[in-house]
Amino acid sequence: MTISRRKFLILGAVTATAFAMPPFISLKAYAANLEQPAMSKVTINVNGKPRALEVDNRTTLLDALREHLQLTGTKKGCDHGQCGACTVIADGRRINSCLTLAVMHQGSKITTIEGLGSPEKLHPMQAAFIKHDGYQCGYCTPGQICSAVAVLEEIRQGIPSHASPSLTEPPRLIASELQERMSGNICRCGAYSNIIEAITDVAQASA
Ligand code: FES
Ligand code: FES
Repeated sequence: MTISRRKFLILGAVTATAFAMPPFISLKAYAANLEQPAMSKVTINVNGKPRALEVDNRTTLLDALREHLQLTGTKKGCDHGQCGACTVIADGRRINSCLTLAVMHQGSKITTIEGLGSPEKLHPMQAAFIKHDGYQCGYCTPGQICSAVAVLEEIRQGIPSHASPSLTEPPRLIASELQERMSGNICRCGAYSNIIEAITDVAQASA
């Protein structure tokens, strides 16, 4: 028996579809199944406390903090890694929480602005931002402060930046070093010089 090319292609497509469909599931049930978001359970240590969550796998850490844990101190600016408003400290390193998924942080230790200090007991960096007027509208400030705290730790550990004159000598606590390291945190109010003054103040006090 000969078979035309057209019939051969149709037969192939039907067979492939039949094999791709899970057995014993109607087309309607199969489509409904595809619409269900994939959920995962994850436990993240946030500001010293384990927080158990069940999230859509696509949930960013930023949305998990803000929408699931109501920690709205961490801000959403651009939501794609360009402004730094969402900066938090994850296992000692500053990250953009909009660029990482919550499910990637099982067991991680996350510090947000709420975990650094409280109105009654400010973190030295929070106090220095107030003292030096390191903000105007304040929208970028939680990210700036989390970033600044991590920056001083990076310098303390001797991690060089693009502005460091040497890769082997410890970085110096000078404005150009701090400006480079803080360059991922945008402030639309332009409080940059006051922010650098605040960070320098804390660095000198703890030196
Ligand atoms: Fe994450 Fe802008 S909101 S970098
Ligand atoms: Fe307004 Fe920085 S203080 S954006």
